[in-house]
Amino acid sequence: MDREQPVGVIDSGVGGMSVLRWLQEKMPHEHFIFIGDTARTPYGDRPREEIIRFVGEMTAFLERRHIKQLVVACNTITVLGTDIIRDGHDFDVIGMGKGALMIRGVTKNNRVGFMATDFTVSTGAHKAEIERVDPGVKVFGQGCPKLVPLIEAEKFGTPEMKAAVREYADMLKTHDVDTVLLSCTHYPFLQKDIEEAFGGGVTVLDPAAMTVGHAYEVLEEKHLLNPAGDGRADVCFTADLERARRLAAHMLDMGRCDFHLIDLKK
Ligand code: DGL
Repeated sequence: MDREQPVGVIDSGVGGMSVLRWLQEKMPHEHFIFIGDTARTPYGDRPREEIIRFVGEMTAFLERRHIKQLVVACNTITVLGTDIIRDGHDFDVIGMGKGALMIRGVTKNNRVGFMATDFTVSTGAHKAEIERVDPGVKVFGQGCPKLVPLIEAEKFGTPEMKAAVREYADMLKTHDVDTVLLSCTHYPFLQKDIEEAFGGGVTVLDPAAMTVGHAYEVLEEKHLLNPAGDGRADVCFTADLERARRLAAHMLDMGRCDFHLIDLKK
């Protein structure tokens, strides 16, 4: 491994760009190769074996581009587990943080919600991790299957989107949570709407910056931080390049990105 090698970043679709923006800010000299599998998003209502197969195609693509680290900018993939994602490759795998430490000092009533895909909620990984770190905290997961398709379809500000956000926020409100984690990387696209739907008194947290801090520390420890690269990102999608580029403009510094339509087999 050497410092000049790129860092790979993967998601099922456009959501992972909400993590890529923090990566570019924290590590301004790294070369990132982002893949959003827009041809097959969402992953969150697919069977586990199918998700594993799709992830294997993305990691093989990135292995051929000689990445030094993989940031999994997707909770649905992260909960498969690091060993399954790494699958014998020799780069480090950094998954999305579950936010167990972020909620400390934020929740006052020790009732915390998280919004995620149905797949992520069904694994119980977030609930188990947060309750293990802080046994006094009660955690409530809310599957939000309508949100990823609406975000991918650019339905921002529509009555349909507002109703979906309200539906899920209302479900979590019945548990009297005062802190909510965005445990799907697509949801920061809706951070304002989600905050509005909860109203004052509920703090909405995005674990992306913390996850990026972890990725940075691992590279630093291994002396693999690039001190002098040009900091550009190759932002790659498996379908609908123009739509994905419009969505990228919500999140990224477009002047530092080169967009590509890719075939994962090449
Ligand atoms: N962005 C992904 C996540 O963090 C999932 C979206 C999907 O369902 O594919 O979970």
